[in-house]
Amino acid sequence: MCIRKGCNMSKLNFILLKAVRWSGWPLLPLLLLFLFTGYVMDGRYGLGKILDEKSALTFHRMLHIPLIILVLAHSLPAVYLALQRWGWIKHRDEP
Ligand code: HEM
Repeated sequence: MCIRKGCNMSKLNFILLKAVRWSGWPLLPLLLLFLFTGYVMDGRYGLGKILDEKSALTFHRMLHIPLIILVLAHSLPAVYLALQRWGWIKHRDEP
């Protein structure tokens, strides 16, 4: 996908693509932490030795809202751009 100056990608699509890429990176550690704290509470795989269950629950609870916000900020623009790419919805033609 062209993101250089002078290509015909619209300003909106450019901003949406930036949103997809910027939100993808914090999502990665956040998701891993969410899974980790979940499995600590579950007591599976001996992860309870690394962190106690009570702290895991505190962290796990704190992670919900940022995770939901980032998942939406990442996937909604990604889906919108994909639908445009596949021709299911129209491209906006502004340069
Ligand atoms: C929570 C799970 C997810 C994580 C951790 C994640 C992480 C990432 C990361 C790190 C990138 C690379 C960003 C870059 O190029 O700088 C990326 C790109 C991308 N992600 Fe995700 N992602 C997740 C879920 C999703 C979902 C559910 C969708 C679709 C609905 C999606 C669609 C995309 C697309 C289309 C790109 C490529 C954007 C581009 O460069 O053209 N991702 N993701």
